[in-house]
Amino acid sequence: MHDRVFRDWSPQEAQRWGHQPLRLHHGWHRSPLFTDDALADLIERYPEQHYALVATSSQGDGQRRWREGEIRGSSGHDVIEAIRQGGLWLNLRNVHLVDRRYACLMDSAYSELQREMPDFDPRAMRMGILISSPRAQVHYHSDLPGQALWQIRGRKRVLVYPPTAPYLPPEVLEEVALSGVEVNMPYRPDFDRGALAVDLEPGQMLHWPLHSPHRVDNHDCLNVSVTTEHWTESIRRTQMVNVANGVLRRQFGWTPQSRAIEGPSFWAKAAFQAAWRRSPWARQAQRLQRPIDFRLAPQKPERLLDIPAYFR
Ligand SMILES: [Fe+2]
Repeated sequence: MHDRVFRDWSPQEAQRWGHQPLRLHHGWHRSPLFTDDALADLIERYPEQHYALVATSSQGDGQRRWREGEIRGSSGHDVIEAIRQGGLWLNLRNVHLVDRRYACLMDSAYSELQREMPDFDPRAMRMGILISSPRAQVHYHSDLPGQALWQIRGRKRVLVYPPTAPYLPPEVLEEVALSGVEVNMPYRPDFDRGALAVDLEPGQMLHWPLHSPHRVDNHDCLNVSVTTEHWTESIRRTQMVNVANGVLRRQFGWTPQSRAIEGPSFWAKAAFQAAWRRSPWARQAQRLQRPIDFRLAPQKPERLLDIPAYFR
């Protein structure tokens, strides 16, 4: 008998998928792919271009204080231990490209979702593993693809906000769509009154409506989580419209009236944003990246060694 990924899927889940935050139960936290030994082995052979090691600060300190670093020369177990000590997160992006076994896990989840929701047409799926320190935070931000967060080990509080003003005004979403990164999204603590707060436990997965801003506070324990993301035809079209609207607003001082993803206005914007993407202005807008400026040195007291900054 085929093992199901989601233990508690019901027809109501299909109705709510994409429209409301949805918490489901899975069995990935019992997989041998997420033990310390398995993760340590994965870290030791992880290609540099696919991971991000970040030294964090708390919300309010400003994202500019975040630093990005490299692992070189440390054992996988030492890296995990350093993360357990605090102030770090390691994002093993694109784990589906690095190790076939994780790709199989991802495929099994998306296949099951497609069986349950025949109209769901995910493509360009990706999977990452996030290993993060006790009390680490992920700042308020919004992502462009459809997303889910799977808790494997440890506990974290996830706050999910509606993808509408004042949490996400159209002009902010357009800036995210243009730059491809969620830099400096305006956040106010009183937004939390409108958020759904979920304490995510091992064996739980959270999916939220497209672009819903979210932020994460780890409880006082090492966290291992998985992120999955996907595009669909409607998400792809939404992105095209947001890019076009952003350029019209920013470059032409025009206030976009429509976010339709069908009809003549959509096709005009699709052509317009395609032309813009080929322009030098598009390349400028996307050149936002943190330099690598430290090396993790778990055996040394300072733990983070300054190195000459470079871009990957
Ligand atoms: Fe996110």
